[in-house]
Amino acid sequence: MKVAVIGAGGIADCHIHGYQKLSDVEVVAVSDHNVNRARQKADECGAYHAFNHYEDILELDEVEAVSICTWNNSHAEIAIQALKAGKHVLVEKPLCVNLEEAARIEQAVKESRKILQVGFVRRHGTNAKVLKRFIDNGELGEIYYGKATCTRRIGNPGGWFADKLRAGGGPVMDLGVHMIDLCWYLMGRPKLTSVVGNTYHKLGNRSNIEHLSFYQTADYDPNVNSVEDMANAMLRFDNGASLLVDVSFSLHQKENQLAACLYGDKGGAELEPELHIITEKHNTILNITPQIDHPSFDFENAFNNEIAHFVKSCRYEEAPISPVSDGVEVMKMLVGIYESARQRREIRFDKQEVMG
Ligand SMILES: NC(=O)c1ccc[n+]([C@@H]2O[C@H](COP(=O)([O-])OP(=O)(O)OC[C@H]3O[C@@H](n4cnc5c(N)ncnc54)[C@H](O)[C@@H]3O)[C@@H](O)[C@H]2O)c1
Repeated sequence: MKVAVIGAGGIADCHIHGYQKLSDVEVVAVSDHNVNRARQKADECGAYHAFNHYEDILELDEVEAVSICTWNNSHAEIAIQALKAGKHVLVEKPLCVNLEEAARIEQAVKESRKILQVGFVRRHGTNAKVLKRFIDNGELGEIYYGKATCTRRIGNPGGWFADKLRAGGGPVMDLGVHMIDLCWYLMGRPKLTSVVGNTYHKLGNRSNIEHLSFYQTADYDPNVNSVEDMANAMLRFDNGASLLVDVSFSLHQKENQLAACLYGDKGGAELEPELHIITEKHNTILNITPQIDHPSFDFENAFNNEIAHFVKSCRYEEAPISPVSDGVEVMKMLVGIYESARQRREIRFDKQEVMG
């Protein structure tokens, strides 16, 4: 299978390595706005085409599938054009930046009958796969509550991540998307009914901080930042379950926090910072620690699993575990958080509320 990668930045490497691990897959083209970056990446992986414009990739008949690794605001346009050109699509998270785009992508998938997989890579981590098996076998019973935290005290990467126009938002779009999707997926993907969210712009990007380093994009500009510092939200679902989440790029806290917990009527689970399953037996509480190589999110394996799953889905024309409909549902949650914060009220999705 011949594939191409659109967008040749940081995450493109993870996609390329994932494809390279598969003996019968070849990356034949790379494109990027910045053609030098595309050329460099193409040279590194032995791809024979490097383009400035992604449209050139879509004209290559030999290319069966594309990975979209560009800024969030270009996901919709590129995904739709790729589907129209008859390519299967693996699109990085988030699916896009608003609900109107999400609906157009979903329509394009229907019309093309091609595979579109949303890059919800955390579903492919070892700890998530192990826990899913326990959940599918009823070990947690009915999961009625989820709680997710991904808060950085100083972690606004700058560049496009700090530009609302290109990213669609800040930590909600970048970190919240992962945490919400992971919990929602493991909770059995219940239908969203409402969102209450708060976003805060209090500390900015904390570029004033000295003596403590943090990741900055190549085009980091300390003076440019239009995204929220932090957000929290309560999501409610049609089965009565709820999910509480908070995320930040900037926060006065002692250290970064990462947690994803699920609570059911037969057992609970802590997925992050490392996998534990909690239950009771014979009137005794048990904390169970699965003995696995990667109790916390294993980034590289997860990407390799994600890419292998995408290739398999394309080859056998099987629905991937993260189809476009999941991307749309998660998009509702993300947009709902911003909309609820803006309007300072609960946003209902079980009634017809119109949003951008
Ligand atoms: N799954 C994950 O864990 C994860 C982690 C990081 C980033 N991402 C996602 O991957 C995507 C890219 O992030 P990144 O960290 O690689 O960013 P990056 O800035 O390192 O790279 C993005 C590249 O895309 C190029 N680009 C942007 N728009 C383009 C367009 N329309 N056509 C061609 N090239 C274009 C840019 O020039 C840049 O080289 C984002 O959607 C981001 O949310 C996912």
